[in-house]
Amino acid sequence: MRINFVLTWKKMLAALLGATVLVFLVGWSGLVSISAASGHFAPVRWFLGWTMENAVRRQSMLEDRPAGLDLSDPALVLRAAGHYATGCAPCHAAPGIAQSPVAQAMTPAPPRLEDRIGDWDDRALFWIVRHGIKYSGMPAWPAQHRDDEVWS
Ligand code: HEC
Repeated sequence: MRINFVLTWKKMLAALLGATVLVFLVGWSGLVSISAASGHFAPVRWFLGWTMENAVRRQSMLEDRPAGLDLSDPALVLRAAGHYATGCAPCHAAPGIAQSPVAQAMTPAPPRLEDRIGDWDDRALFWIVRHGIKYSGMPAWPAQHRDDEVWS
C-alpha cells in the first residue's frame, strides 16, 4: 500500500484548528496541575528556568546604565538597602536572615540571592527588577517610571 500525503493549505489550516481546539479542551478539562504544593516536574522546571534566563539575557541587551551613575555610591547603596528590606527580603531573605516558610512554599520558590547575583550582569539585574518575571511570584518594580530607583 502506498500512502500519498500532500501538504496543502487546507490541511495545514485544519491541523492548526485541531491544535487550537485541543489546547482549549485541555484548559477546559480542569485537569491541568496548578497546585503550588506539588512543585514542578523536574524537566518542566528546567525548561521554564532556561526560557527565563534566555529571555532576560536577550531582552536586557539594550539596557544601558545611565552615564556617570556610580553603583557603589553610598547614597545609592543606602537607598537600595531600604528598598531591599521592605520590597525584596520578605521573599528572598537577606544575608544572616532565614527565608520565610511562606516564601519557600511558592512555586517556583524565590531563590536566596547571595549565590545568584554573580550569574547576572548589571543590565540583566536591572531588567529583572524593573520588569519582574511573569508566571512566577517575582513582581515588577511598582513605579515603572523610576528607573533611578531600580538602578540603585
Ligand atoms: C513575592 C515574592 C518576591 C518578591 C517580593 C521579590 N521577588 Fe525576586 N523572585 C521571586 C521569585 C519567585 C523568583 C524566581 C523566578 C524564576 O525562577 O522564574 C525571583 C527571582 C529573582 C531574581 C533572579 C534570581 C535567579 O537567578 O534565578 C532576582 C535577581 C530577583 N528576584 C531580585 C529581586 C529583587 C531585587 C526584589 C526586590 C526589589 C525582588 N526580587 C522581590 C519572588 C519575589
